[in-house]
Amino acid sequence: MASIFFLSLFFFLNLQPHSSAAVEINRACNATRYPLQCHTFLIPKLLTNPTPLQIIQSTIRASTSNLVTARSMLHSVRDASRSNRTRTTNVKSCLQVLHYSRHRNTLSLAALRRGATKDARAWMSASLGYQYGCWNGLKYINHTALVAQTMTFLDSLVIISSNALSMMVSYDLFGNDTASWRPPITERDGFWEPSGTQGFGTGPKIPEKLEKSTANAVVCKSAGCYQTVQAAVRAAPDRAEERFVIYIKEGVYVERVRVPLKKRNLVFLGDGIGKTVITGSANVGQLGITTYNSATVGVAGDGFMAKDLTIQNTAGADAHQAVAFRSDSDLSVIENCEFIGNQDTLYAHSLRQFYKSCRIQGNVDFIFGNSASIFQDCEILVQPRQGRPEKGESNAVTAQGRTDPAQSTGFVFQNCTVNGTAEYMALYYSSPTTHINYLGRPWKEYSRTLFIHTFMESLITPQGWMPWTGDFALNTLYYGEFENSGPGSNLSQRVPWSNQIPSEHVFSYSVQSFIQGNDWDHVVVSH
Ligand SMILES: *[C@@H]1O[C@H](CO)[C@@H](O)[C@H](O)[C@H]1NC(C)=O
Ligand SMILES: *[C@@H]1O[C@H](CO)[C@@H](O)[C@H](O)[C@H]1NC(C)=O
Ligand SMILES: *[C@@H]1O[C@H](CO)[C@@H](O)[C@H](O)[C@H]1NC(C)=O
Ligand SMILES: *[C@@H]1O[C@H](CO)[C@@H](O)[C@H](O)[C@H]1NC(C)=O
Ligand SMILES: *[C@@H]1O[C@H](CO)[C@@H](O)[C@H](O)[C@H]1NC(C)=O
Ligand SMILES: *[C@@H]1O[C@H](CO)[C@@H](O)[C@H](O)[C@H]1NC(C)=O
Ligand SMILES: *[C@@H]1O[C@H](CO)[C@@H](O)[C@H](O)[C@H]1NC(C)=O
Repeated sequence: MASIFFLSLFFFLNLQPHSSAAVEINRACNATRYPLQCHTFLIPKLLTNPTPLQIIQSTIRASTSNLVTARSMLHSVRDASRSNRTRTTNVKSCLQVLHYSRHRNTLSLAALRRGATKDARAWMSASLGYQYGCWNGLKYINHTALVAQTMTFLDSLVIISSNALSMMVSYDLFGNDTASWRPPITERDGFWEPSGTQGFGTGPKIPEKLEKSTANAVVCKSAGCYQTVQAAVRAAPDRAEERFVIYIKEGVYVERVRVPLKKRNLVFLGDGIGKTVITGSANVGQLGITTYNSATVGVAGDGFMAKDLTIQNTAGADAHQAVAFRSDSDLSVIENCEFIGNQDTLYAHSLRQFYKSCRIQGNVDFIFGNSASIFQDCEILVQPRQGRPEKGESNAVTAQGRTDPAQSTGFVFQNCTVNGTAEYMALYYSSPTTHINYLGRPWKEYSRTLFIHTFMESLITPQGWMPWTGDFALNTLYYGEFENSGPGSNLSQRVPWSNQIPSEHVFSYSVQSFIQGNDWDHVVVSH
């Protein structure tokens, strides 16, 4: 027995360095952040000569099959906590995002097959984000052995997905030449994605032909049309291959709107900012409400578009997290819309989003999430927190939440204005040293936020950026500025862990390079 074991071990060790499969796997795993786990898992799976693509695909499939296990573990947690609302709400959100994760894995595999590597990266970035998000949510209910076990399992799932994504990044950059593959690096290591463009691009526009007069559904306050936005959303076909236009007439709609994953290519057209208003007040202070599900409008279907309306959350400044708009919509275009809240107004949760000429208002971390979003020609406004304004406060405009250096996510503000509302600016000018505002702070380790050609009013403090806690993420985040103007843009006192974007790399953040956003208006999403 002992000698057989010895023999097979000898055989195994001896074989590895000579087999081309082993060399390929070594090189591919060298491109990951967790090479040890990468090897352990791949070596028994791939015995014949795998191509680099097969190695990546095999890793994605492992992520998918572990997602199935994770979901069944979560079902057990749910069954064991039926009477506890906090736990069931939490598990429900987890199950939902793991469902999204599985969907994105499938899309990612298909994209790799047809050579659409940028799409594959975007979708795998989201998949990883959902798995992490589920794990992170469970921290708040980690009071039973079952939850702890599920978290440990999710940990290993995150590692597999991270490895798949890292390999994809190397595949995108170096192709089949696995000898050149290397672990993901960031701007902080002096790396920028190559950009084919000169200029930032004006981005996708909502097609002119989508008109209110020919809308597929109309929402209004009088008779003869849908009474709620949600009713009109329900009327849209599932998995539509063409756009479905919902015209929301002037009026205030008090409701919580959900656009599920299967309702894609939806378009909301309003009568203007402040005229068509969708409003809610859910917030984390309420039983069964998490940041994620507090959103007044939450969108998951791809290709979502909205124009000329206001979405708000009126929970108030004392209510803590209270989201107005949350989006998980890939290739989404939001034009001339207004988002009003206090803490956590706009949750740009995942995937690729384009905001044009929007007004976004809040105070604490009010633009946050882990999407790849570009905000172009937007007005970003700090508004007062209620209570005792004379005591002053510190606000961060953004809290971008990238968790992995391979994720192609980040926030880009280009040709925007950062200011306060008239009411806030009056408070600010009465006591500029007590009202402190930062451009952002790192919610997660690889937080990435860029301000380009943006006007910054004096309310932005000279340090510019705010730590989250201690030195968390300060060596890994990337906060870049480029040719901004206005009194808040003076760089002389910026924190040492922020940067100026080198001009030869600034177009890495163009609409085309960063979110592949040049032709979305012509593309009707079919995923
Ligand atoms: C993997 O990376 C290590 C360290 O960077 C290097 O020494 C080794 O040669 C690499 N292995 C392969 C197979 O490329
Ligand atoms: C419900 O679950 C939460 C989170 O695990 C826990 O803190 C709380 O004590 C539970 N409540 C009851 C009544 O068991
Ligand atoms: C979950 O709780 C268990 C038991 O208290 C603990 O050992 C574990 O570290 C916790 N997991 C996380 C990720 O916090
Ligand atoms: C890698 O090689 C395969 C053939 O084995 C080919 O189909 C694919 O296009 C190559 N990928 C790149 C990025 O060149
Ligand atoms: C910058 O944004 C403003 C609106 O805030 C717009 O009027 C102007 O045309 C934009 N400039 C460029 C160069 O796009
Ligand atoms: C900023 O807001 C103040 C108060 O509303 C206003 O007076 C000022 O013109 C604004 N600045 C810019 C650049 O829009
Ligand atoms: C930036 O601020 C410093 C003082 O902190 C000042 O000396 C300098 O003139 C300012 N630069 C501009 C362009 O306003």
